[in-house]
Order: sequence, then C-alpha cells, then structure tokens
Amino acid sequence: MASKDNGERDTLTIRDNRTGKDYEVDIHEGDVIRSMDLRNIKVHEDDFGMMCLDPASTNTASTRSAITFIDGDKGILRYRGYPIEQLAERTTFLEVAYLTLKGELPDQSQLDAFVEDVTFHTYVHENILKVLDGFRYDAHAMGMLISSTAALSTFYQDSKNVRDAECRWVQMIRAVAKIPTLAAFAFRRHRGLPYVYPENELSYTANFLNMLFRIGVKEYRPNPVLERALDVLFILHADHEQNCSTTAMRVIGSSEADPFVALSGSMAALYGPLHGGANEAVLRMLGRIGRVENIPAFLDKVKNKEEKLMGFGHRVYKAYDPRASIIKRTADEVFEVTGRNHFLDIALELERIALNEQYFIDRNLYPNVDFYSGIIYQAMGFPVEMFPVLFAIPRTAGWLAQWEELILDPEQKIARPRQVYVGFEERNFVPMEERGGEVSAGAQPVVV
Ligand code: ACO
Repeated sequence: MASKDNGERDTLTIRDNRTGKDYEVDIHEGDVIRSMDLRNIKVHEDDFGMMCLDPASTNTASTRSAITFIDGDKGILRYRGYPIEQLAERTTFLEVAYLTLKGELPDQSQLDAFVEDVTFHTYVHENILKVLDGFRYDAHAMGMLISSTAALSTFYQDSKNVRDAECRWVQMIRAVAKIPTLAAFAFRRHRGLPYVYPENELSYTANFLNMLFRIGVKEYRPNPVLERALDVLFILHADHEQNCSTTAMRVIGSSEADPFVALSGSMAALYGPLHGGANEAVLRMLGRIGRVENIPAFLDKVKNKEEKLMGFGHRVYKAYDPRASIIKRTADEVFEVTGRNHFLDIALELERIALNEQYFIDRNLYPNVDFYSGIIYQAMGFPVEMFPVLFAIPRTAGWLAQWEELILDPEQKIARPRQVYVGFEERNFVPMEERGGEVSAGAQPVVV
C-alpha cells in the first residue's frame, strides 16, 4: 500500500452501509482506483461483489496509454508529449505517423527508410479492384473503404501472426501505405472514373491527390498549398486516444483478430455521424441552413432539441478543441487558393452566435475538429461522402499505434465488459398454442 512521508496514504476508504464494514482501496497514479478492488465489497461471502455501471464508459479508463494526452478543460492535445500545434507547424504526416507508431520522432535516416517503405507498399492486389467493382454505382466511399480494408486481411494472411513484432510492423506499413490507395479507388469507382495507380516520386498526400483527381493529363501535380493543407489535416487527425473508433480497434484487437479486420471495424465506428461522420453532417447542416439570416431560427431549433449543432460538442473537450483552431487557420490558406466558400460565412457566424448563447455556454459546447474540416475539404474539391474517408486515412496510424500498445500490454486480455442483468428471472418455455396471453406467472422482469 502506498504511503507518503507525512503519513498520508494514497488510499480510499469505502464504508458499505449495508454491513458497516470499511474497505481500503489503493489509489494509483493520482486519482485512479482499480475496479477489481471493489469486488471484495460483499454482503455475503458467496456474493459476486461490487462493480461499477458506466454506460458509454464516461468515467472508466480501459487502459494505461503513452500515445496521446488530452486535457479537455485546457484544450491541450499532445502526441507522445509533443504539442499538436508544434507538430502541425513543423512536421509532415509521415513523421507524425512514425512518432505515434514508434514513440519517438524519427531521425533523418529513419524517416527516409519509413517513407520509402510506405511508398513501396502503396500498390494493392489487382483482385481488390474486383471487390470494388462489385459495389453498386452509388455506393458510399466509406462503405467501400471499410469493406476493402477488411478484404486486405484475405490477401495478407500472415497478418494473423499478431504476436510477432516484425510481422506487426510489416502490416502497419502496409496499412498506412495502402489505405489511401483504397480510398482513392473507392472515390474513382463512385465517380465511374478509371483507377489511377500510385506514383512513387510523389509525397504521401500528393500521391493521394494524384490518384483522386488526375484526369486526362500525363502528369498531375497538386497545388503545394493544398498538398500541405491536407498534410496538416492528416496530422491533426492522427490519433485522439480512447474514442469510439479506437475503442473498437482495441476491442477487436483484444481477440487477436488481424489488424486489417480490426481497422475495418474501427472505420465502421468512425463512420457514424456522432463521430467521424460529423464532418459530412456539418456540411449537410450548413446546406440546410443555407443563408446567414436563417441561423437564429436554426439555433432556436437546437435549443429546443429539435436539431443538433453538428461539429459542436465533445465528450472530452470542454474548451475550444485545439485542432479546430489550427484548422481555422488552415482554412484561410486554402481559401487563398480556391476562393472563399460561402459555407465558411455561415459557419463563422454560427460559431460567433453560438459561443455567446447561454445554451452553449452552460453546456461548454465549442466547435470540434469536424466543424471546419468539411468546409476545407469541400473547397479542395472533395464530395461530402469522402469526408469520413479523409478522417480514416490518417487515423489509421493512431489505431495501429493503439493496437500495438494493446498487444504489448501484459495487463490486457480479451475485452469483456460486465452487465447488470435486468431481464426476466427463469421462466418455463411456452408452447406456440399457448402464447400471446399474459406474461406467464412468476415471470416478471427483474426490477432494479
Ligand atoms: N448540439 C446541441 N446540443 C448539444 C450538442 C450539439 N452538438 N452536443 C451536446 N449537446 C447538449 C446535449 O443535448 C446535452 O444537453 P442536456 O444536458 O440538456 O441534455 C449536453 O449538451 C451534453 O451533451 P451529451 O450528449 O451528454 O455529451 P456527450 O459527451 O455524450 O456527446 C458528442 C458528445 C456525441 C460529440 C455530442 O456533443 C454531439 O453529438 N455533437 C455533435 C456531433 C459531432 O460534432 N460529433 C463529432 C465529435 S468529434 C469526433 O468524434 C471526431
């Protein structure tokens, strides 16, 4: 048991008023108790013991992690200790991907080797094209990305060897390299355009833009401002600790499924409008609002709970999302090149009014990363269905870093939360001819 010099102990005393017994529980790392320590709290020796009910894990840590630090009250985000502002200003996405995966910034030769490895793994097996060709003409790009990422598992069956460090690294390179190719192919499929294959002499983001947008020219070179803006957006999206999709990655990974199917599951979690699908939802919302004059009426609906202000609010940030501030600056640079997007005027005014409204002040609701990213993506020529895809590409690095951490963590086991059962007590089977009446005697739902 931890004990300080002044005699204070890092413990918590819990009194069970049902029995009058006191229990002393260790406090770890400042203010953490272990849920399993509660199991000793019992009325009878053969009781199961106390546990916590925490729907949506709002106050339960599922892991110890050294990858990403967030202080939601102060609006701080760091990868491996480095502030997001410095990384967005001074690195490239692949440098950040290396940092999240390996734990340290690469030196020049490590970076060169990583870039070369990623560049030379960008091609996908030709049969993947048949997977994509099987989709209907109007299939959503995210659905195609989720499916084709899962399909990688069938092409790289060595990926099941999750306990082999070298093998894991090969899969990480493959995923970081190939997912932009799959994303671009999904986009071209949606548009009915021929696939453009990766070009090794281009940067990670330039290659992606080339695979997306080259039409009818021998050589496509993206505007360097847009190439850098996309790289910055990728840096901002590289990881965000234990959110919905990362939790999906860890839960699936905990069964030792291969990383490609686990990534596919994470992408599915990301796709929802409350998570990475929010940037798409923001654009659709701005389209519905249509004009600055309509904002007050829209905000009235939000306050009456008839609408949600998409791109606002966050489970962790109760101050300005630091990524949203950087994105706002990036938007200015992009609009210098593309011309101003009229949605920006609506978004800026929406933010200005919302931040002064009591409803939003009381609930600490600020713009999150998705509020402005969609406007930039649209200005760069991406259709809305590509927005969650643009989130999934860089987050692949974070998901994989979290997966690696999970695999190496001796404390982790297969994820298996408990439940508080509220269904029927045991009741007798009812034959078909006797069904449809009252609930059978003695079979009442358990009341909690
Ligand atoms: N618009 C209006 N009201 C909101 C919003 C919003 N965007 N977000 C939260 N609220 C309100 C809730 O209605 C609730 O009000 P109440 O106390 O009167 O019931 C209060 O604020 C607290 O909200 P919760 O839903 O409890 O917050 P939670 O942490 O569970 O949800 C979430 C976080 C899902 C992000 C939520 O803020 C939301 O739905 N935002 C819109 C979708 C969005 O932008 N998602 C992207 C998040 S960033 C990311 O995943 C990359």
